[in-house]
Amino acid sequence: MCGIIGIASFKDISKEILASLKKLEYRGYDSAGISTINNGEIVENKCAGKVSDLEKLIKKTSLSGNIGIGHVRWATHGAPNQINAHPHSSDEVSVVHNGIIENSSIIKKELVEKGHVFKSQTDTEVITHLITENLKKMNYLDSVFETLKKLEGSFALGIIFKKFNNLIVGARRGSPLAVGYADKEKYLGSDSYALNSMTKEVSYLDDGDICVLTKDKIDFFDKNKKKIEKKVHKLTQEKESYSKGNFKDFMSKEISEQPEVIKKCINEYLDKIRKEINIVNFPIDPKKISKVNLIACGTAYHACIVGKYWFEEFTNIDVNVDVASEFRYRNNKIKENELYIFVSQSGETADTIAALEFCKKEGAKTCAIVNVTESSLSRLSDLVLPIHVGAEIGVASTKAFTGQILVLLLFILKIAKIRNEIKADEYSNIIKDLENVHSHVTLILNNKKSIEELAEDFINIKGSMFLGRGLSYPIALEGALKFKELTYLHAEGYPAGEMKHGPLALVENGMPVIVIAPKDRFYDKTISNMQEVIARGGKILLISDHAEEITTSENVWSEIRLPQIHKFLSPFLSTIPLQLLAYYVALKKGNDIDKPRNLAKSVTVE
Ligand code: M6R
Repeated sequence: MCGIIGIASFKDISKEILASLKKLEYRGYDSAGISTINNGEIVENKCAGKVSDLEKLIKKTSLSGNIGIGHVRWATHGAPNQINAHPHSSDEVSVVHNGIIENSSIIKKELVEKGHVFKSQTDTEVITHLITENLKKMNYLDSVFETLKKLEGSFALGIIFKKFNNLIVGARRGSPLAVGYADKEKYLGSDSYALNSMTKEVSYLDDGDICVLTKDKIDFFDKNKKKIEKKVHKLTQEKESYSKGNFKDFMSKEISEQPEVIKKCINEYLDKIRKEINIVNFPIDPKKISKVNLIACGTAYHACIVGKYWFEEFTNIDVNVDVASEFRYRNNKIKENELYIFVSQSGETADTIAALEFCKKEGAKTCAIVNVTESSLSRLSDLVLPIHVGAEIGVASTKAFTGQILVLLLFILKIAKIRNEIKADEYSNIIKDLENVHSHVTLILNNKKSIEELAEDFINIKGSMFLGRGLSYPIALEGALKFKELTYLHAEGYPAGEMKHGPLALVENGMPVIVIAPKDRFYDKTISNMQEVIARGGKILLISDHAEEITTSENVWSEIRLPQIHKFLSPFLSTIPLQLLAYYVALKKGNDIDKPRNLAKSVTVE
C-alpha cells in the first residue's frame, strides 16, 4: 500500500507535504517520512508511527526546501520502524516507493558485492542504491530508466536528486500514480485523492510511464523513453466530506450518513416520475448476457455475494462470485457474452485491478461499481457505475458497502426488466420500498444507544460467530469482518446451515452468537439453527424484523428488532446494527476506530 506525495514548487513545501501525508494516511500509518532538497543537500526526516509523530520530529529540525517527496508506509518488507520508513536516501538520491520489488534480494546481493551498504530491511532500498550506482555513469533520467529495467514486481516511485535539484521523477508499474498541475507548482501523488486539496487538474501515469516534474512543467515518457502527452482530467469530489464535522471519528460520521447516502444514490439512478432506473450503455446487451462474474475484495466481495443472490432471484443469468486475489491466478476462461463486474470503494485495490486487467486482455466486457470515480478501476472499465456515497475515510467500510449493494440492486433490477425476467409489479414494488429504505435506516440509527449498551458485554469475549442464511449469509460475513477488523476479537461469519458441519464445536457456554434472521423464506430454518446453538450454551443476539415476541420463549439473550421491509431489501437494514456493534465494542476497548492496527484503507499491493 503506502502513500506517495511529491511537490516541485517555487516556495517552501514542507507544510504542504505534511498536510498531504495526513490525507494519505488511509493508505498506511506504520511510519512516515519526508525528503527535501535544502541548500543543495538531501535532507531526510522519518519516524515510526503516524504523520503527527513526523510533524513533531520536523518541528525540532526546521525542515525547508522547494522540492520534496513524502511517504506514509504500510509495511511489506521489514518491520514498521524508523530505519525501514521511507524515504530511502543515499548522498545522491532519495526514493519513496509504493509496491513490492520481487527480485530485491538478488539485486541487493549484486550491489553489496559492489560495496553498497544497506541500512534497512526494505525492498525499496535497492532502488536507491541502483540509481546511485547508475548515476556514476549516466544522467538522472537514464539512471532511472536503467534501474527500472532491473526491477521485477510493482511500483509507484517518487525520486529526488542532489545534483538535479529542481525536479522530481515519478515512475509507475502496477501501482497507481497521478500528477497534478498548479501555477508554479506541480504535484506527484499515489492517487488523485492525495492531490485533491491542492489542484483539480490531474493526469494519470500508465504502466511503464515516467514523469519529470519541475515547478513549471511536467514531461512524460513511455517505457521506450519516447516523450508522450497525457490527458488532463478535472477532479470532482467535494472537499467537505473530508472533514469529521462534529463526529468523534470518521466511522461514526460515515455510519450516520447512510440514510442521506441512500437517498442521494437513488436520486442519481432513479427517474422518480417514470419510476424507471436510468442505467444505459451496457457493455453487453442485457438480453444476451449468458453469465455474470462479480469480483472484489473484503467488504466489496461481501457486497458481490449479496449481488449474486439478487441476480439469481430476479434473472435467469448464471452468476459466479470471486475474491479478486484468487480469481487473478485461476485458470479462467473468458467466454463471449459474459459480463465481468468489479466492485471497489477505492478503485485502487491491486488484486481487483489485476483481475480487471486480465479480463480486459482476454477481451471481456467489464463494469466497475466504484466510489472513487477518478480511480484506476474506473478508467479501465467499459461501464462505470458510481455509488455516490462521498469520500469514505474510516478504514472499516460502512457507507460504501451500503452504496455498493444499492447500485448492484439497481443494476440487477434494470437487467431483469430489460430481459423480461421480473414481473412489472414486483419491479415497481421493490422500487417503491427502496425509496423508503433510508427512513428505516434512520430508525435503526436512532436506536444506537441500545447497541452501545449491548457492546459492554462483548469487550472480554474469547470469540463470536455471525450466522445467516440466504441474503443474510453475506451480511453475517460482513458483520464478522467489521467486528474483527475493529475490535481485534475473533469473529467467524458462517452460513447458519453449516454450523453442524464443524463450527458448532466452537460453541461453549456464554459464547456470543449473532443470528441475522429477517422474516424471509429462510426464517424458520435459521431459527432452528439458532436453537442448535442455544442447546450448546451459545448466547444469542438475534437481529430480526419478525413480528412475534420470541426473546424469552426461545431463550434468546438479546434482540435488535429491525423495522419490517420487503424481504429482498433486508441487507440494507441488518447490516447497520452490525456496524454499530463493531464500532461500540472497539470504542469501549479504546481501539483506533479510523485506523485499526495493521490495516490500510486502500490495499494497493497484492
Ligand atoms: O477499496 P476496496 O473496496 O476495493 O477495498 C476492498 C477491501 O480492502 C475493503 O473492503 C476492506 O475489506 C475493508 N477495510 C473492510 O472494512
